[in-house]
Amino acid sequence: MKERIKVNDKVFKPMITNAEIEKAIDGVAEKLNRDFKGCEDVPVLLCILNGSIMFTAELMKRLDFTLELVSMKLSSYVGTHSTGTTREVMGMTGDLNGKRVIIVEDIVDTGNTIVDLDKIVRSKGATDVKICTMLLKPEIYNKPLKLDYVGMEIPNDFIVGFGLDYDEHGRNLPDIYVIDND
Ligand code: IMP
Ligand code: MG
Repeated sequence: MKERIKVNDKVFKPMITNAEIEKAIDGVAEKLNRDFKGCEDVPVLLCILNGSIMFTAELMKRLDFTLELVSMKLSSYVGTHSTGTTREVMGMTGDLNGKRVIIVEDIVDTGNTIVDLDKIVRSKGATDVKICTMLLKPEIYNKPLKLDYVGMEIPNDFIVGFGLDYDEHGRNLPDIYVIDND
């Protein structure tokens, strides 16, 4: 892992190694397998593009039940700040009607996005919705919605890597870096 990196105009320092992220994903997968292995329906794994591409890919490899992958795109961030309102940028790539859905998010910050997603997914006819997020900023999250599967909790700082971006850059970094304000 490099000491300092530059993404667009900002400097970032190392925060979570790829090995630590993978360990957290192992834990999430274990819980999902415990809850879904052997089920008679085919649950939908809903990948929220683009941030959760890497997380979804790593998670899927570890899941032992038959699932259907559906993706959708939503966006709420401009630069390093949440805008508070989400926009559905690209619709669902598959049908959710009558299915159990596991929403796979990269990170829950204010929770505005996940609350909107939960509503959208229910409005598409999902019979049950579970929330699965790789990361959570618990100091900020203040919504009543239950987060069923959480990989790791992190402080309230802006991060990039492992799918997360700063103005669309930095998603390909295998490790996670945090903004360096010094
Ligand atoms: P929320 O609606 O405030 O919970 O924000 C959730 C979305 O904002 C996530 O899906 C991410 O795409 C993005 N986001 C939140 N925190 C960060 C961060 O630290 N770095 C990059 N993107 C973030
Ligand atoms: Mg996202």
